[in-house]
Amino acid sequence: MTIETRETLAVEGGVPVRASFLPYHQPLVDAADEQAVVETLRSGWLTTGPRTKRFEKDLAAYAGAAYCVAVNSCTAALHLALEAVGVGAGDEVITSPITFASTANVIVHQGARPVFVDVEPDTFNIDATCIERAVTPRTKALIPVDFAGQPCDLDAVMSIGVRHGLPVIEDAAHSIGAGYKGRRVGGVADMTCFSFYATKNITSGEGGALTTNRQEWADRIAVMALHGISRDAWKRYGSEGYRHWDIIAPGYKYNMFDLQAALVRSQFDKIDAFHDRRVALKSRLDDGLRDLQEIAFPAERAWAAHAYHLYPIVVRSEMLRADRDTIMNAIQAENVGIGIHFRAVHLHPYYVETFGFARGMFPVAEYYSDRTISLPLYPRMSDADADDVVAAVRKVIARYRR
Ligand SMILES: Cc1ncc(COP(=O)(O)O)c(C=O)c1O
Repeated sequence: MTIETRETLAVEGGVPVRASFLPYHQPLVDAADEQAVVETLRSGWLTTGPRTKRFEKDLAAYAGAAYCVAVNSCTAALHLALEAVGVGAGDEVITSPITFASTANVIVHQGARPVFVDVEPDTFNIDATCIERAVTPRTKALIPVDFAGQPCDLDAVMSIGVRHGLPVIEDAAHSIGAGYKGRRVGGVADMTCFSFYATKNITSGEGGALTTNRQEWADRIAVMALHGISRDAWKRYGSEGYRHWDIIAPGYKYNMFDLQAALVRSQFDKIDAFHDRRVALKSRLDDGLRDLQEIAFPAERAWAAHAYHLYPIVVRSEMLRADRDTIMNAIQAENVGIGIHFRAVHLHPYYVETFGFARGMFPVAEYYSDRTISLPLYPRMSDADADDVVAAVRKVIARYRR
């Protein structure tokens, strides 16, 4: 164990732990990824086409779902899922306040009301017992979020869904590759939404996908992702010759295109290798930090196969002479990038002003929201980078310890 001295922090003019800045995240893109994209550029087909269709097939098989629709973001997938199950004006959708903006925003896009419920005090995933109490006759869907890459308690959430006739739309932006009681995320909930945003476990820069076992939803989502024009409209300039298409609903422009699909499909080949590297880095960070009393770590459920997308810590500011933001700024000054996942959505101005949410409504989420910092965790990091993260956190905590 390192014995810290109260070294002068970089924020106070001291020497930073690292000479160069370690970004919070950098994607790992290799020669095979580059080749896949270049081949697509040369193929004569850039938009939605054979590579997107192949990725959909492969992701469905991997997740254990009958259908997959690839789209241009997880936000789009969540929005289309709500549209497909008929969420509309005056409806309510229950979700977690510990999530990204889009999980809640898409509910508003459909004219519905987001109903937040509190999270579990150890995993920070949605608390199923709170969901049950929040169901009303207006509730139309549930959106549990697999926070940081750990699946939420899907059996508990799904059983509430079944009891009340509510579809469960899993926000799996963090949890591709994760498992729930021996099954892969993507094959468990009624619909599962994935993200391939630049920071995600596999990426196409921007991108998303939705898996489901219900053909009716998959068909609707495929149509609504491409202007609401009839299925397979993407083939309209293909070798089968021009065919008329019909607008059957005012859809969106949410389709994944083949350049994205080529990149994410190539990344998909490395999902296990990326995961193994995440596990190794995560345990290196754990080993370096776990004795610090001033930091708490989210609990892991025995039934969960965690995707380790994020490495969030909870800074127990009551044991320190500094709040989270002071700690956050001090770590960054040591040349270690950080993220915040997440400040609780119900406390953001739009949600306070529009829906009357206020501090005190979801105390566990608020405790977490005020104290969390995500440390860097990505396959492109070296062991030495992870050691620098540990050194920076230890230095800052030692300085502000009561
Ligand atoms: C929990 C969660 N849901 C949804 C999203 C939206 O994903 P995308 O950027 O692919 O739209 C994110 C993105 O970071 C996220 O963290």
